[in-house]
Amino acid sequence: MRIPVLAGNWKMNTTLTEAIALVNGIKAETSDIKDREIVLCPPYPYLPMVLEQVKGTNIRVGAQNLYFEDWGAFTGEISAPMLRSMEVSHVIIGHSERRQYFRETDASVNKKIFAALKHGLSPIVCIGETLEQREGNLTLKVIETQISQGLMNLKAEQIEKLIIAYEPVWAIGTGKTATSAQAQEVHAFVRSLLLKPVAGKIRILYGGSVKPENIKELMAQEDIDGALVGGACLKADSFNKIIKY
Ligand code: PGA
Repeated sequence: MRIPVLAGNWKMNTTLTEAIALVNGIKAETSDIKDREIVLCPPYPYLPMVLEQVKGTNIRVGAQNLYFEDWGAFTGEISAPMLRSMEVSHVIIGHSERRQYFRETDASVNKKIFAALKHGLSPIVCIGETLEQREGNLTLKVIETQISQGLMNLKAEQIEKLIIAYEPVWAIGTGKTATSAQAQEVHAFVRSLLLKPVAGKIRILYGGSVKPENIKELMAQEDIDGALVGGACLKADSFNKIIKY
């Protein structure tokens, strides 16, 4: 019922030449897959190239961030209508690295979600606790705050359009994946925070050291509907294996 989403977050990686090779390596093996939503999120400057390469396939393209204003004197920022005008379909919002290094908050996440939805982009909204918070038994409390503040004032029909990515900060880029049981617990909790009809439809992805070796077990969990992949999406071979889990 919920179509699995396999999204690759390239972060600040690849030269243009490497990016071309990567998208072609992914396209060669996955462009005819119809029962999964495949999303590539390259760095901004490569978006037009990636969009061109995947034209006519089922592969979708997302940005890694956006600014919440539409236009104006905001040097260095990229807006939702700009992304839409290039046919970008998805956008990652509130990644933990943006929260940690660029001071994004649940309040800015909320504004960005509204901006993305206003222009028809599918937001991939990231939430997750730090190691300190997990060890202090605060995981569910942190998640509850990120959801209630981040999704504040959104109507049910807007929430339905979101993709949520649960990414425990301690599992990102560390090689330490949450166990499937730890992930399932949080995913089920996130779903329990949402209204019934929305809860059944919304896709909740897991992120944090997803690799070909652990994707199957994660996807076997009832409330895990896909993955947001960092490191392992930078090699076509490993991302293709994840897509075809
Ligand atoms: P990772 O990153 O797969 O390298 O842990 C995931 C993410 O940050 O989205």
